[in-house]
Amino acid sequence: MTDQAQRLRELVGAVHAPAPVIELRPETRRVRTLAVTSGKGGVGKSNIVANLAIALGRRGRKVMVVDADLSLANVDVLLGLQPRFNLSHVLSGEKRLGEIVVEGPSGIKVVPAASGVAELTMLRESELEGLIGEFTTFLPDMDLILVDTAAGMADSVLSFVHAAGEVLLVTTPEPTAYLDAYQMLKHIHFHSPDKQVHLTVNMAGSEKEAYRTAEFMGQMAKRFLDHEISHLGSVLRDPDVPNAIRHQKAFLEESPHGIAARGIQAMATRLLNSQPSAPAEDQDVGSLWRKLFKYAKIGKA
Ligand SMILES: Nc1ncnc2c1ncn2[C@@H]1O[C@H](COP(=O)(O)OP(=O)(O)OP(=O)(O)O)[C@@H](O)[C@H]1O
Ligand SMILES: [Mg+2]
Repeated sequence: MTDQAQRLRELVGAVHAPAPVIELRPETRRVRTLAVTSGKGGVGKSNIVANLAIALGRRGRKVMVVDADLSLANVDVLLGLQPRFNLSHVLSGEKRLGEIVVEGPSGIKVVPAASGVAELTMLRESELEGLIGEFTTFLPDMDLILVDTAAGMADSVLSFVHAAGEVLLVTTPEPTAYLDAYQMLKHIHFHSPDKQVHLTVNMAGSEKEAYRTAEFMGQMAKRFLDHEISHLGSVLRDPDVPNAIRHQKAFLEESPHGIAARGIQAMATRLLNSQPSAPAEDQDVGSLWRKLFKYAKIGKA
């Protein structure tokens, strides 16, 4: 009887015991880092970052959004989040990373980082490693990091673009936007000829127009730079987007079946189906910050 009770306890214990977590060793854990950028401003980067992050989060991916856009219309405002502190408070030692990170829909973690990149250059190597330690402690096991950058070629933008393993270049079908996007691509190619660049066309009036723009960009890149870019898909012009912004909610949540939401979902699928080409050593959380530190420090970007 006692034996039976013991056996029963063991069984119950086994059922309730947490499922074994298969720990990957740190060196085998991979995180994809995408800097989302453009030539011209106002083409939809922040909206794409916020909604793509949520789409990826819904598919079970752990997503960190690094909000590196100084303008006011950035990811936290779009999602109605109210961060009180930012990365500069971590760098100055006033706050721990866990105190500045805000959680968005689908568990996405937003790191307000617009203020702080310049301060990175002031760090000593040991302090940088401390910061990386904070990321590994507070945000372990991330699958993807999306960096929302400001438009244009300011040093802080370019540092992120060079530090990220992959770049998502956003344009609209307007020549002013795609010609600026091409200038950005030229710059990326010059410094990092092997950088994996994805393209998305936002605010096209039709799939045909989006496709034509992507084709044109792809051909220019191939012909003049010999740089292959992958078309990640497009988000058509959709009144759901400004509507959702007015409510400070993601359009993926406000209008999940709308045209823009469908475009984002297709992008998320393509992104997850694409293989990152960045070398393994560039696919950990520390690599983004180490490279950022390096580029910011030498002002190479
Ligand atoms: N697919 C879309 N359909 C309709 N309007 C859109 C779409 N995408 C973006 N917009 C509009 O474009 C505006 C700019 O978008 P967003 O702020 O995301 O651009 P951005 O590239 O991040 O700008 P910045 O360069 O200033 O950071 C938004 O306020 C929104 O009204
Ligand atoms: Mg923006």
